[in-house]
Amino acid sequence: MRNILIAGNWKMNGDTAGNAELVAGIIAGAPRSERVSLLVCPPYPYLSAVSSQLAGGAVSLGAQNVSEHEAGAFTGEVAPAMLRDCGCDYVIVGHSERRSLYGESSDVVARKFQAALDAGLRPILCVGETLEEREADRTEDVVDEQLNAVIEAAGIAAFGEAVVAYEPVWAIGTGKTASPGQAQDVHAHIRGVVAGHDPDVADRLLILYGGSMKGDNAAGLLSMPDIDGGLIGGASLKAEDFLAIAAAAAQL
Ligand code: 13P
Repeated sequence: MRNILIAGNWKMNGDTAGNAELVAGIIAGAPRSERVSLLVCPPYPYLSAVSSQLAGGAVSLGAQNVSEHEAGAFTGEVAPAMLRDCGCDYVIVGHSERRSLYGESSDVVARKFQAALDAGLRPILCVGETLEEREADRTEDVVDEQLNAVIEAAGIAAFGEAVVAYEPVWAIGTGKTASPGQAQDVHAHIRGVVAGHDPDVADRLLILYGGSMKGDNAAGLLSMPDIDGGLIGGASLKAEDFLAIAAAAAQL
């Protein structure tokens, strides 16, 4: 049985005092479960402080984005090694907000994925379709394109160190969640694509669901056979809300 990862993507939210309170709440209320791991992904400026607060505990730290370059004249960018240096184990790549608002193509995402791995980070690769694409019955095509760009660039073995997050764009921040069945269908498809290259890697791969996951819908989603956790936006900003999802996971 695969483990469950409950990851909070704080996006561009928080401040020093509020983060300290949120992290203290998460540490205090984290379920004691061998199977469920927690991860928080704060904005860059807070990584070191959150890392210090998490030190020695079971909650992991990740970033929300990373440069595809190692170092040098890239004003405003953050290198993968810097994230390691600040205590990160994970980094989100290819979030739909990065793709749509900052023009990140699947090729750029693939380079970020590889750069993260090279630095010893575990990339969380986000894929997912817009409402228009779903209504045009193009969900699988879109997910295939996003996934295959990375498989071709990094090789399937790289997915042994990675996590995939299926985030239907129409469910992000909208309060509209994919039904467990809708999400399961796409998760099974993603696992099938990976299995086409390497069944063992596919079997071990954690595939998270993201898009308006909350305490009251988490159990239904997480009980699906190919849903191995959540990438949580809004509900990761309050310890109580985040822990409600973690508790639902721990009860499975
Ligand atoms: P919400 O949980 O706010 O819908 O955000 C999901 C998300 O984008 C996580 O990366």
